[in-house]
Parts: sequence; C-alpha cells; structure tokens
Amino acid sequence: MWLEIGFGGAEHLIWQAEHNPAIGLIGCEPFEDGVAKALTAIDEKALRNVLLHPDDARDLLRWLPESSIGRAFILFPDPWPKKRHVKRRLISPHLLDLLARVLRPGAELRIGTDIGDYLRTILIAFHGERRFRWTARGPADWRHRPADWPQTRYEQKAVRHGRRCYYLSFVRESDVA
Ligand SMILES: C[S@@+](CC[C@H](N)C(=O)[O-])C[C@H]1O[C@@H](n2cnc3c(N)ncnc32)[C@H](O)[C@@H]1O
Repeated sequence: MWLEIGFGGAEHLIWQAEHNPAIGLIGCEPFEDGVAKALTAIDEKALRNVLLHPDDARDLLRWLPESSIGRAFILFPDPWPKKRHVKRRLISPHLLDLLARVLRPGAELRIGTDIGDYLRTILIAFHGERRFRWTARGPADWRHRPADWPQTRYEQKAVRHGRRCYYLSFVRESDVA
C-alpha cells in the first residue's frame, strides 16, 4: 500500500494508481472538491486500487497498522507563509513520529515544496532524524522532479508564478525504531 497525504486535485494519486495497478493507493484529502475530483477519476477510469480517507491524514496515520505503508507522498503541503502561521505546517517532528511508525523499513517518503522557507522547516524536522535518510547526493537530486512523479496542479501554478520547486526523497531506515 502507498499513501498520498493532501492529494488536492488527485492528479498525482490517479497517475500513480493507473501506472501501478498492483499497488493499493490510499489518498487523504479533507477538501471536498478534491475528493469529488478523485471519485470522478476513479469512476471514469474504473480504478480498483484506490481508497480515500476524506479527512485529516493524522487520524489515519494513528489508525494504520505499524509498517503497513510502502511509499508515501506529501506534495506541496499548504505553505502557511506568514510567520505567525508557521506552526500550522503539516511537516513537523510529530508528523515524522506518525510516519515512522506506519512506513515499513526501506519505504520511500517523497515531499515537494515550492517555498524556500518550508524547505528549511522540512530539513530542520529531518535533521538528526535517525529513522529517515535523505537520499540526495547532490543538488540535481532535489532540484529535478523524478520521471515517475507527475506534476500536480499546485506545482504547475507555482512554476507559472516563477517559483522554484524542490523534490525531496527520504528512506525509512530499517534498523532504527
Ligand atoms: C497546497 S495543496 C497541494 C495539493 C496537491 N498535493 C498538489 O500538489 O496539487 C495542500 C493540500 O493538502 C491538504 N491538507 C492540508 N492539511 C491536511 C491534512 N492534515 N491531511 C490531509 N490533507 C491535508 C489541503 O486540503 C490541500 O488540498
């Protein structure tokens, strides 16, 4: 099972489901319009490998069994750019605790952002984190979107507005609880 948190318009979720028919995809999104878009696409494409949690991903993360997820995606989480709102950002040490429990050893966690200050928040959350390893070996690894990571609507808008996007990949380490 793979998990996408905050799938928005579901472009990436549906693409992954179509390209990986042997994988089950769980999409979390509290925004009703996004859920409706996902349901429409699931219906039109007759997809049988997508489950939706139309609510906060953190509830699902607490409920999922340990080591049950093989890959997770958090693509362009809400930026909360104002200083007084930074604490509302989804990526935090607490979220990493929830993810570390459900991701199986060796699972990949992909995170995208177009906000330099959010990149900083993410890297601070992962700094010194023994349960996750950032896979980047050089700038090319986080400046370019991998071929199996289709562009989302939010990313298209960010690019149109001239913002640089960052593509991060972490791996759940196997020998750290
Ligand atoms: C900036 S949008 C990006 C949407 C999509 N990933 C994309 O790249 O187009 C962030 C999305 O995360 C969703 N979101 C925010 N908090 C969430 C949470 N706690 N659990 C699940 N989704 C959440 C929002 O409803 C929103 O659709």
